Order: sequence, then structure tokens, then C-alpha cells
Amino acid sequence: MKNPYLPIEAVIKDIRLETNTIKTFRIRPKEAIDFKTGQFVQLSVPGFGEAPFTPSSNPANKDEMEITIMKAGKITSILDEISSGESLGIRGPFGKGYPIEEFKGKEILIVGGGVGLAPLRSLLFTLFSCLNDYPKLAIRYGARTPSDIVYKESIPLWQKKDKVDFVLTVDIGDATWSGNVGLVTTILKDLPLDCKEAKAVVCGPPIMMKFTTFKLLDQGFKPDNIYLSMEKNMSCGLGKCGHCRLGRFYVCKDGPVLTLDKIKDMPDIWD
Ligand SMILES: Cc1cc2nc3c(=O)[nH]c(=O)nc-3n(C[C@H](O)[C@H](O)[C@H](O)COP(=O)(O)OP(=O)(O)OC[C@H]3O[C@@H](n4cnc5c(N)ncnc54)[C@H](O)[C@@H]3O)c2cc1C
Ligand code: FES
Repeated sequence: MKNPYLPIEAVIKDIRLETNTIKTFRIRPKEAIDFKTGQFVQLSVPGFGEAPFTPSSNPANKDEMEITIMKAGKITSILDEISSGESLGIRGPFGKGYPIEEFKGKEILIVGGGVGLAPLRSLLFTLFSCLNDYPKLAIRYGARTPSDIVYKESIPLWQKKDKVDFVLTVDIGDATWSGNVGLVTTILKDLPLDCKEAKAVVCGPPIMMKFTTFKLLDQGFKPDNIYLSMEKNMSCGLGKCGHCRLGRFYVCKDGPVLTLDKIKDMPDIWD
């Protein structure tokens, strides 16, 4: 049996600058990694350590994977300095990912904040490939400033898709910006969906997820229809070490996507 702790070598084929602190890495693992949208991988920089990331690319592409990474601390700062042609380690995929089958036939709302649009991009590729299965797809995205928006070239193309209603906002505008200004929660009213029945998928910084969830509940979304990406500290990724424990759940194994009804009574869900 394959050792799940042993990373596979992956060569960086391309690095795209998204913002001053966020880059998208296109990597080619030496063995194909078959992931489902929303599952995560542990990416390692040889000699330095590893950190969890959710691929942002289309899971249908088995040979290469894109991962969008924000510089936050030790490993991500090393990744920020790395060049195309260098090798990383990768293990996984881990976790359950998005329950696409539960989404079929439902109206879907996707809410992203900052680099939280990365895992959602992979979900969008999956949903775009079978848009007929979903009566409506509303996407709401918030970034801190116009220069913090990720996937700037893709967003206008996504906005043109049939059935897709994509609205974005920035917390603070500038001279180049004529769009919405305000937190992502300000574009969550008058949603073109039946909120009582629709599914909502939320990914972003904890504070954004917290206030987005409150707003969605106000709008009539049911807790079991609100899917949250929980970012707890990870180590093994295999449900063994307990680092990622959230009440009775191991986020690495039972998540990282969990519905609000399952976790709402746990004290530290927004930490
Ligand atoms: C399931 C899962 C999926 C994820 N997917 C993604 C993804 O797709 N893209 C992505 O970008 N991230 C993602 N993350 C978050 C990512 O794993 C963390 O940002 C990463 O582990 C940080 O590692 P690090 O070694 O760079 O930071 P560490 O050194 O471990 O620091 C952790 C935190 O400490 C703080 N910190 C440390 N050093 C500094 C400093 N010098 N200045 C300011 N603050 C500091 C920061 O808040 C930082 O987030 C995901 C996390 C999980 C659990
Ligand atoms: S990361 Fe080890 S149990 Fe989840």
C-alpha cells in the first residue's frame, strides 16, 4: 500500500501573479493526482515543511493542478520566492470536498472572500461543466481593494455565462474602480434565488465567513444548506493526529467543507 505521508514530486510549470501577495502555481505531479473539487492537498517545500491548500483548477484536468496561494507565514513566504522549474512535494487529496450530488437541481449561491475564491474556482469549473443541472448560479465575491481581486481575467468571462449572476465588491475603492464598494455582506441582499431552498457555499477568511453566514440566515437560508470551508491547522491530513479537531469532527477527514447545522454549536468555529 502507498505510504500516505510520502509526498509525490511535482514540478512547477508556471507561476501567475494574481495580486501583490497571491500567486497561482501550475504544477505537474510525477503521478497524476485525482482530486474532487473542494478536497485539499498538503504541499511541501523540500527541507522546510508543508501546508494545506485546496486546488483552484478544474478537477477534470488530471495531469496538472493549479493552486492559488496567499503569502501568510513561513511556508507561503518561501513559495512566494520560488521559480518555475523547481520541484515541490505533494500528498493527498484529503477530505471530502463539495457534495456535488446534493447540489443537483438546486439554485446555488457561491460567496467568496479574498483568496477564498481559489477553492471556489475549482467548484465553478465543475458547475460550469454541467450548468443545465442548476436552475441558477449566483456568485458574490469581495476583495479588500481592486488590486486584491484574484482571477481578474476570468471574472468578466464568468459574468457572461448563461444562468450565472456574478457580482463583486471591494471594501475600499480607488480611482480605477467604478463598481460596488462595501463588504461582501452588502451584496447579499436582493439575491435572485429562493433563499429558503437554495444551497450556499462560502469560503473566505473566518471573519468574512462568520458575517456572511449571519446574513445568509437572515435571508432565509437553512443551516443545512450553508456549506462552509473550515480552515483549521492541519498536520497528517488523515484523521490521525487530531490537530484539526473541531468538536466531534476532524476537519481534514470529515471536511474541510461542513454544513452549518453540524458545527453551529461549537464555540470555536470562527477562530
Ligand atoms: C483545507 C485548507 C485549505 C486551504 N487552502 C488554501 C488555498 O487554496 N490558498 C491559500 O492561500 N491558503 C489556503 N489555506 C491556508 C494555508 O494553509 C495557510 O495560509 C498556510 O498553512 C500558512 O502557512 P505558512 O507556513 O505560510 O504560515 P505560518 O507560518 O504557519 O503562519 C500561520 C499564520 O500566522 C500568521 N503569520 C505568520 N507569520 C506572519 C508574518 N510574518 N506576518 C503576518 N502574519 C504572520 C498568519 O496569520 C498566518 O496565516 C488552506 C488551509 C486549509 C486548512
Ligand atoms: S490533520 Fe491530523 S487529524 Fe486532521
